[in-house]
Amino acid sequence: MKKLFAVLGDPIGHSMSPLMHNDLFSFYKMDAHYHPLQVKAESLEDAVRGLKAIGIAGFNVTVPHKSTIIPLLDGIDELAGEIGAVNTVVNENGKLIGYNTDGPGFLAGVKDYIPSLTGKKVLIIGAGGAARAIYFTLVKNGPQRVDVSNRTVEKALKLVNECTKSISSNALSLDQAGKRLEEYDIIVQTTMIGMYPIINEQPLSLSNLNENAVVYDIIYNPLETEFLLKAKQKGAKIKNGIDMFVYQGALAFEKWTGVSPDVGRMRQNVLKQLGGTRC
Ligand code: ATR
Repeated sequence: MKKLFAVLGDPIGHSMSPLMHNDLFSFYKMDAHYHPLQVKAESLEDAVRGLKAIGIAGFNVTVPHKSTIIPLLDGIDELAGEIGAVNTVVNENGKLIGYNTDGPGFLAGVKDYIPSLTGKKVLIIGAGGAARAIYFTLVKNGPQRVDVSNRTVEKALKLVNECTKSISSNALSLDQAGKRLEEYDIIVQTTMIGMYPIINEQPLSLSNLNENAVVYDIIYNPLETEFLLKAKQKGAKIKNGIDMFVYQGALAFEKWTGVSPDVGRMRQNVLKQLGGTRC
C-alpha cells in the first residue's frame, strides 16, 4: 500500500517540501506520496489524532506548530527537547516520535565548507526558533564559543543560560555584536530581516567583519540577502539558506525511509523552483 507523508502548517502553500520529497520518492521508485496539509492551530490536535489513525508513515511540521505539537506526540528525541521544537515526525510502530532536523541540517551544510568547528568562534544573530535549533546543535560540535545576539537581549540571555554544555556563550545586543564582529570566524543570521519582500534591510552593520569569516544567512528568498551582499563585498565567504533547507529535508527523508538521498538533486530541484517564483 502507498505510504503517506505530509507537511502540516498554516500557511502551507509556499512549502517546497512536497516537490522535494515527491521527486525523491519517484527517483528511488518508492510507492509513497507527500502531501501539504493546511492545519489551523485550533485543529492541530484533531489533525495529529487523525493522521495517527490512518497510519501516516511520517510528516514534517512547520510554522506555527513546531512547539505546540510536542505534547501531542508519543515522544521526542533529546535534541528536539532542548530546542523545544519538532520539525520531523516518524511513525515508529504506531508511535509518533518527534525529531528536529533543522539544526543538524544547518550543521551538515556547514560541514561542506568548514570540515571542523573545533576552536571556532561563532556568532548567531537572532534568538527565535531557528536560532535555538542552530545553537543547540552547534554547541555539541566543538566550537570554542557560540555567542547569541538579539534585538531583545533578554531572549538571547535566556537561550545561552539554557545551555548545559561547558562552552563559552555570551548574550549580546545587536549593537555590541556589530562592534565585536571581527572576533568571529562564523556568523549565522537567523532572523527574517532581508527576506522577500523587504529585501534591503540587514540586522547589523558588517563594517567590523573579519574578511576570513564565513557568513551564513538562513534566508533563501532572495538567494543573496543584503546581509550576504555586504559580507561578500568585505571579502567574506557567504552561504544562503538553501543548504539548511535541503539538508533538513534529506535528514527527514533518511529517518522515514532509511535512504540517504541525493542532496545535489534536491538542491537543483529547489533552485529551479525558486528561479520560477522569485521576484
Ligand atoms: P523563527 O522561528 O523563524 O526564528 P521567531 O521565533 O519569531 O522566528 O524569531 C524571530 C527572530 O527575529 C527573533 O530573534 C527576533 O528578535 P526579537 O526576539 O527581539 O523579537 C528577530 N527579529 C524579528 N524582526 C526583527 C527586527 N525588525 N529587528 C531585529 N530583530 C528582529
